[in-house]
Amino acid sequence: MSRILFSIALLVAVVCCGSVQAQGFGRGPMGKGGGRGPDADHMADMQVFHFLLQNHDKIKRTVKKLDNGVETLTESDDPEVAKMIQKHVVQMTARIEKVSPIRMRDPLFAELFRNAKKVKIEYEDTSKGVLVTETSNDAYVVKLLQAHAEVVSKFVKNGFAEAMKTHPVPAK
Ligand code: HEM
Repeated sequence: MSRILFSIALLVAVVCCGSVQAQGFGRGPMGKGGGRGPDADHMADMQVFHFLLQNHDKIKRTVKKLDNGVETLTESDDPEVAKMIQKHVVQMTARIEKVSPIRMRDPLFAELFRNAKKVKIEYEDTSKGVLVTETSNDAYVVKLLQAHAEVVSKFVKNGFAEAMKTHPVPAK
């Protein structure tokens, strides 16, 4: 039993952080903690990712590309899943605003956090989830946002199988 629990914990760590080594953990190379361990919010954020990936087949998502970013609508008929989507967006917006990186082993996520200061996020809760607008004045960051939105859609489609993969950075 403890072996099974350990395996689940390891899988979640790999999916969210990219590595159980210090490099991908928490603040990572860009933050103040410099790889010394997870930041304070890390465990809470991980629980939400885990829940969303586990319930990916209950989530519906549409992405509209804008000239300067994306507009995404992510919803679920299940009220608990809807609440977790809303919570995840609050948590990830805080990470972008504080430049507190996560999933640094994945090139696309690492690059997005390197450019976090050029990202503007606005969101509003809907009755079943959340409507998010992410924009930037920088054409390259717009590409990053659009690529990231596609990856989130793949998380929704494929769950953990997608989260185990890495995702390339678009050409400048
Ligand atoms: C089924 C699973 C997931 C769902 C439904 C989901 C949903 C979302 C949504 C709605 C956003 C707002 C931006 C957008 O809509 O494109 C977002 C942003 C974000 N998500 Fe997730 N997510 C999932 C899994 C993950 C995982 C596994 C990670 C990383 C370990 C992650 C990391 C992030 C980050 C860093 C952002 C902020 C970056 C940004 O908004 O540009 N997400 N996610």
